[in-house]
Amino acid sequence: MSGFVSFVSSGPGDPELITLKAVDRLARADVVLFDDLASGPVLGHAGPQAELIAVGKRAGKPSAKQEYVNALLVEHASAGKRVVRLKSGDSGLFGRLEEELVALRDAGIGSEIIPGVPSACAAAAAAGIPLTRRLTARRVQFVTGADVTGGLPESINWAALADPGATTVVFMGKRTFPRLAEGLMAHGLAPETPAMLAEAVGHPEQAIHRTTVAALARQLGDARSDHPALILYGPLADVTA
Ligand SMILES: C[S@@+](CC[C@H](N)C(=O)[O-])C[C@H]1O[C@@H](n2cnc3c(N)ncnc32)[C@H](O)[C@@H]1O
Repeated sequence: MSGFVSFVSSGPGDPELITLKAVDRLARADVVLFDDLASGPVLGHAGPQAELIAVGKRAGKPSAKQEYVNALLVEHASAGKRVVRLKSGDSGLFGRLEEELVALRDAGIGSEIIPGVPSACAAAAAAGIPLTRRLTARRVQFVTGADVTGGLPESINWAALADPGATTVVFMGKRTFPRLAEGLMAHGLAPETPAMLAEAVGHPEQAIHRTTVAALARQLGDARSDHPALILYGPLADVTA
């Protein structure tokens, strides 16, 4: 008998920012394969019977190869187990979900996807602002600041990323932001465009820092913490006034 894989989204880290469906699948799982950013208190939703396996993927740190993760999923599901593949935020955002879905499809194993709270939405909520703004931010774009090599992606749609009428959220962008910001300003984005660094959202170390694009580029060029972080820029609301 073949098992089944639930791709479960953990949310940003706060164990309360997880769906009821996700909690149900975790409670009934035989095996939980979890990413580094989907570890911590959310794993407390797993039942005592669950085997917890770290397959962590973290920028700049050694991590399990994608083929190894695919093989583990197929192996456990083929043994008839209820498998949870736990990914941070929403599992469909920058989480290599497609490769794993294809591996399961090719092995004839059934799966489901349980959506979750993306770290981008949790970051805006933690800062007390909306991601869209009537008239001034009619568009939101989620982009990655790093390709598989860890460098700035080669093909960048500069016109879209320098659009002053959009809120842009950069995932995995701390290291490359100084170069990204240089390109954005060369393509017309004002240096004083509001920017926000949102670190460890939903974790006890959460830190939200509001600044400008030019100042954040300088700051990240000088020093960076190890915490996962998002960079938001654009016509971000200022509700402190
Ligand atoms: C592989 S991507 C996964 C994104 C995830 N699927 C989501 O919806 O948030 C990892 C990146 O997401 C961002 N990220 C994930 N969790 C975060 C958190 N709790 N706080 C800040 N950034 C986070 C960081 O940019 C991190 O490098």
